[in-house]
Amino acid sequence: MNASDLAIIILAAGKGTRMKSSLHKVLHPLGGRPMLHHLLDTAAPLKPSRKVIVVGAGKEQVEASVGEQADIVVQEPQLGTGHAVQVTGDQLRGFDGDVLILYGDVPLLKQDTMQKMIDVRAETNAAVVVLGFTPDDAKAYGRLKVGSDGNLEAIIEFKDASEDERAITLCNSGIMLLDGVKMFELLDALDNKNAAKEYYLTDVVAIAGQKKLGCVVVEADEYEVMGINSRSELAEAEAVFQNNRRKYFMDEGVTLNDPSSVYFSHDTIIGRDVTIAPNVVFGPGTEIADNVTINAFCHIEGAKIGNGASVGPFARLRPAAELGRGVKVGNFVEIKKSKIEDGAKISHLSYIGDARIGKNVNIGAGTITCNYDGYFKYPTDIGEGAFIGSNTALVAPVKIGAGAIIGAGSVITSDVNADALAVARGKMKEFGGWAAKFRTNSQNKKNKQG
Ligand code: UD1
Ligand code: MG
Repeated sequence: MNASDLAIIILAAGKGTRMKSSLHKVLHPLGGRPMLHHLLDTAAPLKPSRKVIVVGAGKEQVEASVGEQADIVVQEPQLGTGHAVQVTGDQLRGFDGDVLILYGDVPLLKQDTMQKMIDVRAETNAAVVVLGFTPDDAKAYGRLKVGSDGNLEAIIEFKDASEDERAITLCNSGIMLLDGVKMFELLDALDNKNAAKEYYLTDVVAIAGQKKLGCVVVEADEYEVMGINSRSELAEAEAVFQNNRRKYFMDEGVTLNDPSSVYFSHDTIIGRDVTIAPNVVFGPGTEIADNVTINAFCHIEGAKIGNGASVGPFARLRPAAELGRGVKVGNFVEIKKSKIEDGAKISHLSYIGDARIGKNVNIGAGTITCNYDGYFKYPTDIGEGAFIGSNTALVAPVKIGAGAIIGAGSVITSDVNADALAVARGKMKEFGGWAAKFRTNSQNKKNKQG
């Protein structure tokens, strides 16, 4: 099969009123990535040579988000889905490949489905391929009228449909693939003589029929074509996205003890034989090697975790936390922008920021890198095999040499040489019998006061 040139159009001129947001609807994130970018990224392997996004209000926001990735066209006023495609004339008139029309608020469409539409058009030479679906509740979706020969004859909008037509269960997702050579010929023939007085994109099907051009239907799963118009639909789509990721990771050899309580980012990367306990949240930019254990209640974002490491429970890894092989990070530990080298242990109650923790270092409970003076951030460097006693404050910038030991409770304000012992705290004094005397005196005083 000859791979034809591909253009994509993403319709996003709708007002998005029901989101009640100052952020453009298509920029609301799913799995940490704006809906619009889900579509652009899903379509990217199909190598579209032209990408056009049709917007109404909020052009600047969309432009700022997509940059050079796509052309942006303003549709003003918005006279319907057909009109929205007509306004891409400057970009696409004369384009002779396939044109895939997507909705910016239908972000979960799979690449396989896009590909299937392209393949079906190549096989059948139909001028229009419509993506249909059969939902549990057909609501007010447009209905697909398929002839006995399997050719799609018309799309009837719900508002314009008869009782019999409303009984059809095969619905229009809105997503379509058109022959670029024929597209504007079909669009130019649209009118707005319908219940909504809009230029319906769906009418290209009947027009193609009159011109004896073929139209066919490809079917998709209901979840793939769900549209997002409100915050609750956004939450539903997030649930679908997360379930897809959970299933994907389990299929790839990751154990999830309670899948429904683990949340992934769109870009989370996880190796094999990794176990993830309940209630773990991944923000963007995390990469986990093989044989890692993530214990319960961890929040992990922008971190790299090496082979065989163990994290949590209750750990927070922030951007640019990098854990080497076999590193152990225990409960109530926060790590930011720090390299923790192979075999190091930070087992309890610590903040490590802007630091390098050398190989096999042991960081005692309650150790804090004091990396910030209110104006600037400073680094801490701990050499291989050093031992930092519990409740140590490392006042950065500071270097601890390899193999050094820091006494518990120290406030370390200057560099410590390799293999030295550094202790920085008040010297302990003991006063024999003092406490007993204190109690006797105090009790006597209290008794006298009666
Ligand atoms: C459309 C379809 C309907 C289908 C349904 C699926 C038409 C006439 N009807 O109906 O058959 O079942 O989607 O959800 O196409 N948009 C613009 N400019 C406009 C109008 C819409 O860019 O002037 C964009 C919207 O931002 C949205 C998409 O097109 O992303 C669909 O618009 P919407 O108003 O939701 O169409 P429906 O009436 O639901
Ligand atoms: Mg709609």
